[in-house]
Amino acid sequence: MLSAMDLAPQTDFSLRKPLKFNVENAAFKRDPFPTLGAMRAAGPVIPIKFSFVGKVWVTTTHAATLGMVKDNELFVQEGRNAGKAGVAGMTWWMPKSIKLLANNMLLKDEPDHRRLRKLVDRAFQRRGVMDMRADIEALADKLLDEIQHEARPDLANDYSRRLPLEVICELLGIPDQDRKIFGEWSRMTASISGPFGLLRAMKPLSKMIAYVRVQINECRLHPRDGLISELVCAEDEGEKLDENELVAMVLLLLVAGFETTTHLINDSIIALEQNPAQKAFLLADPAARMERSVEELARFTTPVQLTKPRYVARDCTFFGQPLKRGDIIMAFLASANADPAEFNKPDTLDLERFPNPHLVFSSGIHFCLGMQLARVETQSALKQLYERFPNLEIIEPDRLVWMERLGFRGVTSLPVRLR
Ligand code: HEM
Repeated sequence: MLSAMDLAPQTDFSLRKPLKFNVENAAFKRDPFPTLGAMRAAGPVIPIKFSFVGKVWVTTTHAATLGMVKDNELFVQEGRNAGKAGVAGMTWWMPKSIKLLANNMLLKDEPDHRRLRKLVDRAFQRRGVMDMRADIEALADKLLDEIQHEARPDLANDYSRRLPLEVICELLGIPDQDRKIFGEWSRMTASISGPFGLLRAMKPLSKMIAYVRVQINECRLHPRDGLISELVCAEDEGEKLDENELVAMVLLLLVAGFETTTHLINDSIIALEQNPAQKAFLLADPAARMERSVEELARFTTPVQLTKPRYVARDCTFFGQPLKRGDIIMAFLASANADPAEFNKPDTLDLERFPNPHLVFSSGIHFCLGMQLARVETQSALKQLYERFPNLEIIEPDRLVWMERLGFRGVTSLPVRLR
């Protein structure tokens, strides 16, 4: 592992050989700040090698990261816009069902991206999401009722996972009785990382795809509440979704909207328990301080550390670094959020931080569709939890198991004593 000392800032910016940063192991996930600092010291755009994707460029500074995600003409999703086949990060040997999912908006350039996003934008607008707050708080309370007497409840699986899962299932209109198995499949598919992870995920993924197709057919015959039904009827300026796009949309909403929020809730609880003075500050006036606190918890923990890969559309020099058409590049959001050029003492949790121009939900055309929902879910989850159990304690905090999954920062379980 390289340290900041080993890497004098690059002056020629002609890095081509991947640098040896390990951003997948548990040590990095536990405390990413030192490695992120060393990466930024190596340059604003650096090559590293990931075990699954191979060599990629990553942006490390706030300025380069923002510049990259905002430039959707230079950095594209679809290979055909960069002289390649397929979608960045997907290879020829991947199974058909995975390729079907490439029909989702996150992996599309304009104009397809805009057409698909427009169909769901309204459902995730701020005002509508704010109206859901009371129901989300009631749901959090119900989940806490179920675990309040347990000696050693696992917040990760019994609370932080179930809350966003229930919310997204409700939004989609997944029938109550199917939610448990749906959650199980999505948990198994969310572990897609590396070829073996991919193979393990194939069975539940195929089951999910088949299940979503059945739901689509049922909604066609008997329209009901929820986004699946709305999408089936969707007619946007005369353009309908085709069925593969519909399946990909439902699975994207589920995968993007569930595991991510679970990690933000868990990571926030861990950060608060590790910073008791900050926790006391928040709990002294949660009604006034929760919104700003969640922004800082999101920045400090950055549960989605990297964007999906993009292709470089043409030869260029970006932040001093020559890049070639067809190269793969990812925005390192966690590194941007820890950049001292943008944030005073970035490795300190400061719940009063304002302004807080973090890139937790990215920016540009692919900025997170569910950003408002994730905020309300996390605010509600923390509010209900700490209102009832202000003295909760993580059991053996030094033994938390951090997932070694590229791009995500989260734990596999979070055993606590509720007090
Ligand atoms: C803490 C929770 C969340 C985090 C940290 C997060 C983060 C992100 C990030 C970084 C992106 C950009 C990815 C890229 O450009 O490669 C993104 C996109 C997206 N997110 Fe989220 N997300 C969260 C929750 C949600 C929720 C609750 C939903 C919806 C139910 C959602 C739906 C989406 C969708 C559909 C996109 C693709 C948007 C597009 O391509 O236009 N996310 N999210």
